[in-house]
Amino acid sequence: MIWAIYPGHADTYAEPMTKTLLLGQTLGFCGNPLTGDWTEAVSYDSAGGVLIDGGRIVATGNGAALQSAHPDAVVTDYGAGLITAGFVDAHMHYPQTGIIASWGKQLIDWLNTYTFPEESRFGDAAYAAEVAGRTLDLALAHGTTTLTSFCTIHPASVDAFFEAAAARNMAVVAGKTCMDRNAPDSLRDTAKSAYDDSKTLLEKWHGSGRATYAITPRFSPTSTPDQLAALGALWAENPDCLMQTHLSEQLPEIAWVQELFPDARDYLDTYEAFGLLGARGLYGHAIHLEPREIARLAELGAAVVHCPTSNTFIGSGLFDLMGLAKASVSVGLATDTGGGSSFSMLRTMAAAYEIGQLRGVALHPAQLMWLATEGSAEALKMGGQIGHLGAGAMADITVLDLQSTPAIAQRAARATDLWDALFPTIMMGDDRAIKDVWVAGAQRQA
Ligand code: GUN
Ligand code: ZN
Repeated sequence: MIWAIYPGHADTYAEPMTKTLLLGQTLGFCGNPLTGDWTEAVSYDSAGGVLIDGGRIVATGNGAALQSAHPDAVVTDYGAGLITAGFVDAHMHYPQTGIIASWGKQLIDWLNTYTFPEESRFGDAAYAAEVAGRTLDLALAHGTTTLTSFCTIHPASVDAFFEAAAARNMAVVAGKTCMDRNAPDSLRDTAKSAYDDSKTLLEKWHGSGRATYAITPRFSPTSTPDQLAALGALWAENPDCLMQTHLSEQLPEIAWVQELFPDARDYLDTYEAFGLLGARGLYGHAIHLEPREIARLAELGAAVVHCPTSNTFIGSGLFDLMGLAKASVSVGLATDTGGGSSFSMLRTMAAAYEIGQLRGVALHPAQLMWLATEGSAEALKMGGQIGHLGAGAMADITVLDLQSTPAIAQRAARATDLWDALFPTIMMGDDRAIKDVWVAGAQRQA
């Protein structure tokens, strides 16, 4: 077998150069099923194929036709398995993996009680490395091939995450979480050290292999105006980086932001005033938005990230997915681990469906699958590169078993079409539904 060394990480991994053909049912997208007719946005083949070469998808189409055109390709036949793009988690916190499912608190109490004590441990590089590796392996086991993660204030936590991702050849987005107020001493930096550390880290990691750096102020209550301004300046100096933060998650949080920033027009303005609003910005949660904020996000092409298991678990509210999509706001989907209660993007789609129902909207399985793949990739400004089952995309691929448990199998057995067969797995599936995962053309499990 010939291996291509991926630039920047010659020591850590290589991509197989053998042509590979995956056979099975294939589901991809050629349009946005949230804003248009979903039937026209779907590319489905009940006997499809995905041809991989050099870590990328080079063709999709009818499986038999691809096989006869490429007799040299090594074939993996998944039978009735459903081949999709790998899931893209557009917002999570790897340092919170160990405290997922912690009982009884809403946002600010939850941060103080569970999150901050755990995040204080990530100055220990060995602990950070262990949790980073564990988190990425849990993600892969759940069919997620890209994570977008907050780290902690410790630069070692950022190195640990990017190193663990490089060792797995995963495309990830991450950054040092900056906080210089309203956090314990052990988790506070300053405006200057946040700027300096973030600059050093982004120069080290942004564009190295499959790594993307996101400048990361946690949220405006934990950053002084000076820190927000310093990070806004850093973003202006490095405009191809992403920027991630939180926005309008809970009502008491919004009231607190109003107290801390009395001159701001709204929560979004606390970012805009300091250069932290732009197309490459990712705003997690975004539940309780004012009309001005929605219009501004749409105007600039900034993305919001829906974190439905977190929103129900922490008691935050009901995200208006369809309202935002209709207003032309880019929306990604995310677990928000460990405020979110699951590592699974299947469970995350299920929670998005449930929140939709509570708002009177029944999201179609095509819309849910698009959000978990293409929608998140577009939010990260990586559309066509990841989260896409089509030529030119990296071969980050997940294969679903649509009969992974007896409960799911008995329901799927009476399905009349793909969507009826897939929806029980979306609603009831977990890591047992992940039949296989490919990362940049390399098989992770079988
Ligand atoms: N807002 C600020 N920090 C956090 C966090 O870690 N999790 C969630 N869900 N919301 C936040
Ligand atoms: Zn978050």
